[in-house]
Amino acid sequence: MSINHPSFGQIAPGRVIIFDTTLRDGEQSPGFSMNLQEKLRMAEALHELGADVLEAGFAIASPGDFESVQSIAQRFSKDGPVIASLSRANAADIMASVEATKPAARPRVHIVLATSDLHMRVKLRMTREQVLERITESVSLARNHAADVEWSAEDGSRSDLDFLCQCVDAAIKAGATTINIPDTVGYSLPADMGLIFSTLINKVPDADKAIFSTHNHNDLGLAVANTLAAVQAGVRQIECTINGIGERAGNASLEEVAMALRTRHDALGISTGIETKRILRTSKLLATITGFDVQPNKAIVGRNAFAHESGIHQDGVLKDASTYEIMTPESVGWSTNSIILGKHSGRAAFRDRLKTLGYEVGDNQLNDAFKRFKDLADRKKVVYDEDIAALVDDETAQQQARIKLVALTVATGMGAKPMATLALEVDGERVDGMATGDGAVDATFAALRHAFPHDATLKLYAVQSVTGGTDAQARVTVRLEENGKLVDGQGAETDTIVASARAYVTALNKLLVKRERREPPVAAE
Ligand code: KIV
Ligand code: ZN
Repeated sequence: MSINHPSFGQIAPGRVIIFDTTLRDGEQSPGFSMNLQEKLRMAEALHELGADVLEAGFAIASPGDFESVQSIAQRFSKDGPVIASLSRANAADIMASVEATKPAARPRVHIVLATSDLHMRVKLRMTREQVLERITESVSLARNHAADVEWSAEDGSRSDLDFLCQCVDAAIKAGATTINIPDTVGYSLPADMGLIFSTLINKVPDADKAIFSTHNHNDLGLAVANTLAAVQAGVRQIECTINGIGERAGNASLEEVAMALRTRHDALGISTGIETKRILRTSKLLATITGFDVQPNKAIVGRNAFAHESGIHQDGVLKDASTYEIMTPESVGWSTNSIILGKHSGRAAFRDRLKTLGYEVGDNQLNDAFKRFKDLADRKKVVYDEDIAALVDDETAQQQARIKLVALTVATGMGAKPMATLALEVDGERVDGMATGDGAVDATFAALRHAFPHDATLKLYAVQSVTGGTDAQARVTVRLEENGKLVDGQGAETDTIVASARAYVTALNKLLVKRERREPPVAAE
């Protein structure tokens, strides 16, 4: 069977569409929020990776979300991936998605409505009949404005299967071109997934007029297994995220799904358009932007994913890598012979490495970043790719900032009360701050509050080492809350206290941006 889709035309039977929702489901999880520039950079990387659909956001959620969906749509106004925006099943949400995605060459409106008895009763307070009517109304409205409409049954995997068939039938009749059945709460087993999709595909009369899609959460660690079971049952769109980020335990991870399909093509017979060699750099870009690394043993992109510790394994790999490697590290972007940059490296090599890491910087930014790189190379024996990414991100955040950290001294020692003195530049004016605290970081943050008084409270403070060794850069994440708004800031430096101050200042800058934005509109369900 091959389907004629409004955005993709004829889709070959063995090809699955990769719908990336890193910028929507991924971004909406706490600590993973991104600003507009970061979203645009991520969208670019996802396009280069070969994702077919980018869910750019939830347009009605806030003016900031609307702006990022629209900016990503504008970026792909000539060609590139399908750009989707999520909407609840009401006119305001749908029209916001229509407007925000309009600039894209291939826009998609994505509508979600819950179909499980529990969600309909408790959350929607709607009967089955009302839900069926709402599906028809909302999908028809979207189809009047967009050729490509996806309909999702929230909590679909826990819905009554006969009723789900009726809902899918109504959505297809109203013009939905993709039908997504999410395992919203990560409850299903692979066999459940197989049953749900084979039933829908066999029972719904016009099932061949739409693409079926799967969207799995990882609460039981089964998101990828459920995704593959859905594919085996005939699904041809996979919703997933880089590094598996997303609500609670996250979504199916794009890299794991893509590599499972590629490595086990013999068993599954399905391919994707993913440029697998770009997987690692996309994963690292997301980790750098959000400040959260994947765990070392994470499949495909974890530091240990291709590391062989035991003597028996090392011996086997040296003789023939296929003894213990089911895919090559190079096939997902790990490089075995990377040139390591150090203090003797020149500007050309530095610029070249930035390009490989996905950074296009102007001359001024290159000069500033190169200066900081040289300074870092003086303090650190080896400068790794992760160091460079952290350094450029920090530089970018500082250049766009209204508040800048210009000086910091901390005096501390055994039995002494730590004291921090610092200077900030706020909109070009120098302000000084001084405070003592329970520790060096506490004193630094108190001095920041002294220099720039504010009511925001510290919600999270996390330190990660960018690479290994005592001379490694520390990447600090600081989360602040003001009037219910959360912002994260990151800072990277070989000195943890300076990195902490930079992270705090970055978060303060983000708060200033949030303060300037209007309050989000409240849309009725
Ligand atoms: O998990 C879910 O149900 C979702 C829908 C909005 C698709 O994210
Ligand atoms: Zn989800």
